[in-house]
Amino acid sequence: MANIRDGFGSKAGVIAAAAGSAVGLGNIWRFPYVAGENGGGAFLLIYLGFILVIGFPVMLAELTIGRRAQLNALGSFKKLAPGKPWFLVGLMGIGAAFVILAFYSTIAGWTLEYLSQAISNGFSGKSADELKVSFESFQAAPFRPLIWQMVFMFLTGFIVFSGVKKGIEKYAKILMPVLLVLILIISVRSLTLPGAMGGIEFLFKPDFSKITWGVVLDALGQAAFSLSIGMGTLITYGSYIKKDINLPITALQVTAADTFIAVLAGIMIFPAVFAFGIDPAEGFGLVFIVLPNIFEQMAGGYFFSILFFVLLAIAALTSTVSVLEVVVAYFSEELNMSRKKATILGSVGISIVGVFATLSFGPLKNAVLFDKTIFAWFDFLSANVLLPLGAIFIVIFVGWHLGKKQVKDEISNQGELKVRLINVFMIIVKFFAPVAIAAVFLYGLGLF
Ligand code: PFF
Repeated sequence: MANIRDGFGSKAGVIAAAAGSAVGLGNIWRFPYVAGENGGGAFLLIYLGFILVIGFPVMLAELTIGRRAQLNALGSFKKLAPGKPWFLVGLMGIGAAFVILAFYSTIAGWTLEYLSQAISNGFSGKSADELKVSFESFQAAPFRPLIWQMVFMFLTGFIVFSGVKKGIEKYAKILMPVLLVLILIISVRSLTLPGAMGGIEFLFKPDFSKITWGVVLDALGQAAFSLSIGMGTLITYGSYIKKDINLPITALQVTAADTFIAVLAGIMIFPAVFAFGIDPAEGFGLVFIVLPNIFEQMAGGYFFSILFFVLLAIAALTSTVSVLEVVVAYFSEELNMSRKKATILGSVGISIVGVFATLSFGPLKNAVLFDKTIFAWFDFLSANVLLPLGAIFIVIFVGWHLGKKQVKDEISNQGELKVRLINVFMIIVKFFAPVAIAAVFLYGLGLF
């Protein structure tokens, strides 16, 4: 490559950007609704198990591939396994990025609509039912959701366009601390609502009679989605990490931050769900219906509602940026485009697919296949199919193709750092993770 590659400038920048990718709508919007649909406590437990034994190793595996190769998700496989079909895993990741961002940007757009409603005091005086109706009519109205989706894609494109250091890293370093403070404030508020304990019990008291293979697959999918693993996002980000950064520690910090925020989101939402007598299995509208309800009824609600939707939009933005970067890095390095052209092409291409996701709440809501709308298919396909599949290939690649010597060399910074538990890591990536993911995947889809 003739030009010098852009990259992250500092350790704090790496953490902010990678945690920015991981912490997103997946934590605050998706985790509570999927946990709610799957019975709460028992789901949380399985989810945490997957984070620990699969999520963390896959994250480290991805960072290792990326930093080793110093290239985009597809180029990394080509470079480390020349002439072999491994690049197809990278290609699948680029495809997954399109599918994820297409539906993710729908929800990200909703956060902007709700932010604007919060600012104009739009929840005021509305009953729980009215808030639900207004949510449903907003989703179905084609224009506003589409416009907000495009605004969000534009913001994402703007940051990616500005570069890795001057765009992604810079904004993540500003936005992530703000996010942490906001979510802490709102969780405390939610916990102090009368009746909050019901929600805490729902979230933390496991009821194992609720567990089916479908629930287990949902937990695996949620863990992968939330950590941003399985499609090359962390390969791409890993390729921007300097050779003196400690990768296992980075992976550990990012995993911990992401899990902490997901649990905190549960603590923020379920007490309110129970306090206001809403069904926790309400579905993907959960945060958009429940939270305005709380804000409407609580002291300082106007102020908190603005804070919350700012929080949601920020969380979404640092994640959409990471998904778009996968595509942009691929376009620019493999197809020799300028960053500018790659960003425009990537954002426009994804936005076009995204229109279908957004319209599936309105004009296309009857376009269903096996009970799922286009939006639901995108969500299901990405989290429950593409990410687990990508994760399997990634661990197999690291375990069997790269092998212990190269892995050790990379994660020890060429022998500079002492690495412990390398044998445990190798056993996980060679045997345990591929078998476990494959089993959950096949049983969960009912193929076994
Ligand atoms: N991890 C993000 C979230 O929890 O919202 C979503 C995401 C980002 C998924 C990047 C996958 C990805 F590659």
